Amino acid sequence: MRVAFICSEFEGLLKTGGLADATRGLAKALQQAGHAVQIIMPRYGALYGISCTPEWQSLYFNLGTQTYGCAVRHTVVDDIPVALIEHHQFFQRPRPYDDGEQPYPDNLERFAMFCKAALEYLAQQTDPIDIVHGHDWQSALASCYLKEMYHGALLNSKFVLTVHNAAYQQGFGRHELALLGLSHWQLPAELPTTLLALGLWQADAVNTVSPGYRDELLSEPAANGLSALYQQKQRHFRGILNGCDYSRWNPATDFSLFARYDAGDLAGKTLCKAELRRQTQLPESTAPLFVSVSRVTGQKGFSLLIPALQRFLTDTTAQVVVMGTGEQQFIQPLRQLEQQFPQQFRLLEGFDEPLSHQVEAAGDFFLMPSLFEPCGLNQIYSLRYGTVPLVRATGGLKDTVVGLSARAATGIVFSEPTVDALSDALQQALALYQNKRKYRSVQQRGMAQVFDWQQASAAYQDFYQSTLSA
Ligand code: ADP
Ligand code: GLC
Repeated sequence: MRVAFICSEFEGLLKTGGLADATRGLAKALQQAGHAVQIIMPRYGALYGISCTPEWQSLYFNLGTQTYGCAVRHTVVDDIPVALIEHHQFFQRPRPYDDGEQPYPDNLERFAMFCKAALEYLAQQTDPIDIVHGHDWQSALASCYLKEMYHGALLNSKFVLTVHNAAYQQGFGRHELALLGLSHWQLPAELPTTLLALGLWQADAVNTVSPGYRDELLSEPAANGLSALYQQKQRHFRGILNGCDYSRWNPATDFSLFARYDAGDLAGKTLCKAELRRQTQLPESTAPLFVSVSRVTGQKGFSLLIPALQRFLTDTTAQVVVMGTGEQQFIQPLRQLEQQFPQQFRLLEGFDEPLSHQVEAAGDFFLMPSLFEPCGLNQIYSLRYGTVPLVRATGGLKDTVVGLSARAATGIVFSEPTVDALSDALQQALALYQNKRKYRSVQQRGMAQVFDWQQASAAYQDFYQSTLSA
C-alpha cells in the first residue's frame, strides 16, 4: 500500500509528546512490512536547521478567499521520506502550537493551509495514494478537503483518522467556515464546530490508540462532546494499542544511559539510580526512588499527585524526581515541593530526550496517575526499563499494566481519581518495595512484556485493508 501520514509531529524532527513517538514508530513498522510510507508535516522554525535535499517544489492553491503559496522541502528520517511544508509566516515560529502560554490565534488558518497543501502535494504524485492517514485535529480538515476537492487525483484514496487525544479539538465559530474553505450548508446543523469533529464526520475510518480509550469515547465525558460522532462511526471505529520502538527503548542497548542492563542483570540499573541521585544532588538512600517524565498538564493527574506527594513525602523517606514542562498552575506547587523537601524531591524543568531515558531507567517506580490516557507510552517504556509503573485504571494504562491483585501483576493500579486512592497506591508501592522478592517478580514480569509496533502495524494494515474494501 502507498500510505501518506499528514501529521504535526514526528520523533527526530519535532516532539511535544507521544504523538511524535507514535507517528515515527508506526511509519517505521509499516515500512518494514513492505509498504511505501511518506510523512508530510509543517516546517516549523525548529526545523530550519536540518538538512533538506537541494530540490524543492512550490505549491500555489486557493483556500476559501485566500491564495497561498508554499514550498515543499524533502528530508529523510530513519529511511522514511518526509515532506516539509514551508510557509514562513505560518510555521517559522519557535513553538508549533502556542507561544508558551496561549495557543496561536491563527491556528485555524495555519492547519487548514497545511492540510490543503499536503493534499495538493499528494495530488501531484504520479502513483496513486491508497491511504491518507491523519493524526489528531491538526490534520482532520484533510478529510473534508479530500472528499470535497480532490475527486480527480485522489479519487480512490481513503482517509483514516487516528485520535491520539480527544481532548484537543480546535474549536471554531460558524462564521469562520469560509476561512476553512467550507460553506455553511455543507455541515449538518448538529455537528459540533471543532476541527476534530469535522475529521470524524468525513473520515472513512477512525481509530484511537487503545481499546480501553475507544470504549470510553463512546460516552461522555471522555468524548468531550463528540460521543455521538464516535457512536455513528462505531462499525469503523477501532482501538489499536500503540507500540514501543524497542530499538530505541531498550536498557540493554541504550547509550544515553549511564550503564546498561537487562532483566538478567540489574546491576546497571542500580548505577543509573545512583547517577541520577548524584546529578540531582539527592542523598543516597535505601528508600525507593519514584520518577515521572510527563507533560505537566491536568490530563496527567497533577491535581492528585501534588497533594498526594505532599502527604507521602511528609510521612515517608521516599524520593521523587519529576521531569517535565507544562502548566504554571502545577509547576509552581512542584517547585514548592522541592523547597519543602530538599532531601526528597526534585523537579527537572524542561525536556531532554537522553535525560528522559536516564530518568526512566533510574526509578524504582514510574508515576502516571492520569485522569485520562488515550494510550500512554511512558508506562510501556518503564515496564521495559524495570521501573514498576504506578498508574490509574484508565484508557491505555488499564490495557497495559496489571495491578497487584492479579497473579500476573506488572504494576500498581488504582481506580478512583482521588488523592486518597493515589495515596493508598503510593503506600502499596512502598510495601511492595519492602518485600524484595515480590518487587522483583513484578519487575521481571513487566520487563518481559512486549508491546511492539510490529503488532500494532499488523492491526493498522488490517484496518487499512478493510477501509479500502469497504
Ligand atoms: P503524552 O503523549 O500524552 O504526553 P505519552 O506517554 O504517550 O504521553 O508520551 C510521552 C512521550 O513524550 C514520551 O516519549 C516522553 O518522554 C515525551 N515527553 C514527556 N514530556 C515531554 C515534554 N514536556 N516535551 C516533549 N516530550 C515530552
Ligand atoms: C497522546 C496521548 C497519549 C498517547 C499519545 C500517542 O498524546 O495523550 O496517551 O500515548 O498521544 O498516541
